[in-house]
Amino acid sequence: MRSGAKKKCINPSCGIEYSIDNDIYRCSCGFLLDVVYDEIPNKNLIETFYQRRNYMGNIFNESGVWRYRELLNFVGIDTEDIHECSKFLVSLDGSEGRSSRPYQMSKVANYVDIQSENFYLQPEGYNPSGSFKDNGMAAAVTHAKLLSVKKIVCASTGNTSASAAMYASNEDLECDVYIPRGEIAPGKLGQAFQFGAQVIEVDGNFDDALSLSLINATKEGGYTVNSLNPFRIEGQKTIVFRIMEHLNWNPPDWIVYPGGALGNISSCGKALMELYKWGWIKRIPRVLVVNANGADTFYRLVNGLFDNSKLSWNGGKIDTQLIERFYRYQDINKISPKTLATAIQIGKPANIAKALRTIDFTNGIVESVDDIDMLDGMAVVGLNGFDCEMASGSVPAGIKKLRKKEIIKKDEVVVGVLTGRQKDPSLAINYHLNKSNMFAKPPRDHLT
Ligand code: F0G
Repeated sequence: MRSGAKKKCINPSCGIEYSIDNDIYRCSCGFLLDVVYDEIPNKNLIETFYQRRNYMGNIFNESGVWRYRELLNFVGIDTEDIHECSKFLVSLDGSEGRSSRPYQMSKVANYVDIQSENFYLQPEGYNPSGSFKDNGMAAAVTHAKLLSVKKIVCASTGNTSASAAMYASNEDLECDVYIPRGEIAPGKLGQAFQFGAQVIEVDGNFDDALSLSLINATKEGGYTVNSLNPFRIEGQKTIVFRIMEHLNWNPPDWIVYPGGALGNISSCGKALMELYKWGWIKRIPRVLVVNANGADTFYRLVNGLFDNSKLSWNGGKIDTQLIERFYRYQDINKISPKTLATAIQIGKPANIAKALRTIDFTNGIVESVDDIDMLDGMAVVGLNGFDCEMASGSVPAGIKKLRKKEIIKKDEVVVGVLTGRQKDPSLAINYHLNKSNMFAKPPRDHLT
């Protein structure tokens, strides 16, 4: 076992490196860290990944995360040695990322006005705990076990806690989850209890829960598995790898994500930067991030809607004072993020710097949509026989909005990530009970 992996500050004018044998996630200069590797992977791996789709009883080939294990081999194992894989890699029996890949959905394509053959959505809700978080959690818990930790900790709007609790129970770890009281979907809360986590209810929003969980993790010796953790980001890169593999490594024109704490688009950016640097892709897709109108910090800052100043990566010289002024403005005016899509009800996105880097690298766009648009998006995905939650409905909603503005062209290739499955059925039921909703099909009485 020989790991050539290190952690490195993302700030180009700092670049301090840290060993991976600790759980430091923030550089002394304040920026977050990337996991970086010594070696450039061989392009022949593309063929190996393809062959592993016939997994021949090997759960690390079956897993849609560990199938790409050479691209996140921070453990430094011999990736062909199943014994070493089983000793170190955490997997829920090969199920993370196993069934999620781009699917064509003609009714959604029609709704957003993109040519059907060029339009794909990738249902990450098909993961074992029902959201994209499992991609990252498999990697983060692998790192936690390398450090021999006893307890993992997170704050969550629901899906992270479900995923953390699921892996913790399977790996015999303790798990503390900090959640904003009354602000998470019942299906998600139920999972945390069912998987045996210690639920800690916080009177406040997700941002408050995250602050508290970080303080307590340090005090009580827990390992944080929120997306601040760079190993989470490594696992979530595989969402992009599965997209690329399905498209024969011909990048789409657009990749579209909901934006919450902005971990997912950070991993998308890192995956694309790496693939481009290695020469595996020749073109960089544009990334579209979609905020909810009621939780639109990133949208407002990037588009210059606060203090008339546009926030950008700027080669790492981010205007952090602008971010602080915006957060102070939120605090002083008691503005708390508010949307029915509670998964992305976040006012202080922890990965904002990495997200800005993604927007810069991909010439990306940040849009914002109303709750009703997300509900319509969720409903039309359902009409294609796929299940997603309201936050994921922001993806069709955002594409539709950019299509209307003619920023996305009708014949461009678009892949959207449906981040989670429905865990609050009342949203779907209430949507369909109201016949004024675009896709509503209200129940009728039995005719005698
Ligand atoms: N979609 C779903 C279904 C989510 O659960 C989340 C985040 C996002 C999108 C946003 O992703 O944070 O990487 O920008 N949920 C977190 C949680 C915050 O605690 O479950 P992001």
